[in-house]
Amino acid sequence: GGRSSNPLIRLHEDAASFYHQVLLTTKAGERGMQYARERELSRDILDHFQIGYAPENNVLLMYLKGKGYSDDDLAQSGLFIQTEDGRMFDRFRDRLMFPLGNENGQIIGFSGRRLSQDKTQAKYMNSPETSIFNKSKVLFHFAEAKKAARSEKRLVLYEGYMDVIAAYKAGVTAGIASMGTSLTDQQIYLLKRITNNVIINYDGDDPGIHAEERAVELFEKAGGFNLGLVILPEKLDPDEYVKKYGVEKYQEEIKGALSPTDFFLRRLAHKYNLQNDREKLLYLDEAVKKIATISNPIEQDLFLKKVADKQGVSLESLKASLMREVRKNR
Ligand code: GTP
Ligand code: MN
Ligand code: MN
Ligand code: MN
Ligand code: MN
Repeated sequence: GGRSSNPLIRLHEDAASFYHQVLLTTKAGERGMQYARERELSRDILDHFQIGYAPENNVLLMYLKGKGYSDDDLAQSGLFIQTEDGRMFDRFRDRLMFPLGNENGQIIGFSGRRLSQDKTQAKYMNSPETSIFNKSKVLFHFAEAKKAARSEKRLVLYEGYMDVIAAYKAGVTAGIASMGTSLTDQQIYLLKRITNNVIINYDGDDPGIHAEERAVELFEKAGGFNLGLVILPEKLDPDEYVKKYGVEKYQEEIKGALSPTDFFLRRLAHKYNLQNDREKLLYLDEAVKKIATISNPIEQDLFLKKVADKQGVSLESLKASLMREVRKNR
């Protein structure tokens, strides 16, 4: 598309191509390129995501001033830190830069990853809220994923930018991520207009699985979604998984995504010690309660059979227990 009529969007698009050029073509960008190589980001990937590098000095400020942006636009952009006497400094320094787009793919903010292991600095730094950047409405890679979802017929939701990128390399091109914060209703609303088929593949660590549980609740509250849930082994995130096991294995994980009920039952099993009969009874009780909420009787039967087989109890006893539950709820 052409240049936006909004000067703040134009400013962000100039900033993104500046950071990208710094990464690819300058001496200052070599640190960023070194890091990009460590993260296995090829030239194609750097281009597709328009990844860049913000160097140490105030070069963005100088560059954008040279392009004729007013002090007011610069101040409103959020890309600079202002001192009390009104002087401005580049906000992002020595970071690998991920441009963040709006629904139409126009750049409205950035997230910058620190290159060093220095834990005193935030791993990712985001643009502050501005007139064009509201992080509760932003999804990384959304505009591209929207196009890809037409052929892939689904969207895949990730925790991190690097996960979206790893998935893209693995051929899962309809990947998106929220801004590290938990998912919002506004973001779910954006997804709903694209497709009802959503796979959630957060990190396999405890925070990731818990965030996935919360996301399921949000999607179920919104209603009308067909969800698939992936839990990766060994606490891996998708980027780490692809590095360790390769793209074919990763594609199998996506194909094997669990239904919400399977996901619930799996999480429930992890809460109890199923070797202990008392705990097993508590598990079975909760499992039956959950299955009782399913409206489709064939689906109910399917899950009852699964639980009966897995826990070595009779289907008849589980059915009786389910009937009691259903009567209680009437
Ligand atoms: P890498 O270490 O680069 O692979 O990042 P990651 O995506 O694996 O990070 P992690 O799983 O720790 O966090 C998931 C997402 O949360 C990131 O992609 C960011 O969007 C966000 N996030 C992580 N750390 C920070 C932080 O220090 N500040 C902010 N604002 N967001 C963060
Ligand atoms: Mn994580
Ligand atoms: Mn847990
Ligand atoms: Mn992660
Ligand atoms: Mn990671």
